[in-house]
Amino acid sequence: MQNPDHDPGSALAIRTQYRQSQSRAARLRLLVDTGQELTQLDPEAMRQRVLQRACAFLAMDHALLLEWDADAQVRITASHGSRDRLHSLERLADTAMCAPQWQEQPSADLPNVFRVPLLGGDGAAFGALVLANSVSISAPDTEDLESLQLLATLLAAHLENQRLLDALVTRERTMSDLVHRLFRAQEDERKRMAYDLHDGLAQTLAGLHQRLQGFAGRCPPLPDELGADLQTILALAQHCVGEGRQLIRGLRPTVLDDFGLLKAVDKEADRLREAGIKVNWNARCEARLPSQVEIALFRIAQEGINNILKHAQASHVVLALELHDGQASLRVDDNGQGFAMEQPLDTCGARHLGLAAMQERASLLGGEFSCLSHAHGGTQLRATVPSGLNGTPQ
Ligand SMILES: Nc1ncnc2c1ncn2[C@@H]1O[C@H](COP(=O)(O)OP(=O)(O)O)[C@@H](O)[C@H]1O
Ligand SMILES: [Mg+2]
Repeated sequence: MQNPDHDPGSALAIRTQYRQSQSRAARLRLLVDTGQELTQLDPEAMRQRVLQRACAFLAMDHALLLEWDADAQVRITASHGSRDRLHSLERLADTAMCAPQWQEQPSADLPNVFRVPLLGGDGAAFGALVLANSVSISAPDTEDLESLQLLATLLAAHLENQRLLDALVTRERTMSDLVHRLFRAQEDERKRMAYDLHDGLAQTLAGLHQRLQGFAGRCPPLPDELGADLQTILALAQHCVGEGRQLIRGLRPTVLDDFGLLKAVDKEADRLREAGIKVNWNARCEARLPSQVEIALFRIAQEGINNILKHAQASHVVLALELHDGQASLRVDDNGQGFAMEQPLDTCGARHLGLAAMQERASLLGGEFSCLSHAHGGTQLRATVPSGLNGTPQ
């Protein structure tokens, strides 16, 4: 009987198994290590690293990464090896390819070429990894080819994520730009309406009220009933004049242009005082700020005050306007009934346009907005924006 320790057949089998497990470990290392690396690299470095790893894995010395867009315009996005051979490789781009291909002698200076498609989520190729060698080598086995396809799939997933992310960022920028323009157009329109009202309807109403007062003064004593009617008409006319002024002030407070944010917000707070709500200032920064900052913070305060009058049932409001480390911050706190916030501000959608607009105004200036509220616990608004506007779109 043969001793199994000295059986040449089983020694060979063990060696084969050992080699096989070594190759498996190498394939696994290729995929795991590259997978981990790709999460930390920017797209350029990602492409280059995959080329290097693929070349090292198959012991090939030339590689190109080709990518194309919808109109099949092929671009080289990464390369490795000597320029002459890469030039020949470039011609082997095949935008219709959807499975890995090993080619023997596709051109005189390329003994072997291996092409692996980069497949998108829709199954169509948007690029290819093309590898070549200066001297002829034997074709890799199926498992190696599959590993390379997995490597390409890994890269494709990362690149596609990056593309989607870029598209999202561009879209977000466009949206911000649109909202910014919308706010500007709204502000211009409000200004125009305020001037029109001031020069037209408000003047006419003030004139009407004056003439009525003059008429009432010159009028001979009237019977009680007619006298009471005249007083009602006078009161109505005066009310109209007051309402017209308030409308103009809300559309475009001249005090904001003439005296700055603090005075304008304080004037706006008169609406709270008139409603019997106590108003205190905790910090009063009188510094003039760039007009866009003043308008944004004024509109935030205005909506905050609207909300207190509409929803809070508060008896006390604390306001603050501060300037610290290049940041202007506004606070509007009330002791009203508060509300339960079910969702974060930016996902509230169309239901809460007032709060969403406050948030948008602050973030358009590169600032932050927060609204903290608890049922029966009052509401605290904070808006903090850079007090200078370098780099902000005009
Ligand atoms: N200061 C506040 N006190 C109580 N509830 C408030 C206050 N501010 C906002 N809210 C609540 O948040 C909701 C959203 O406010 P907002 O976005 O300004 O929309 P709107 O005022 O048009 O309802 C309000 O409907 C109200 O329920
Ligand atoms: Mg509101």
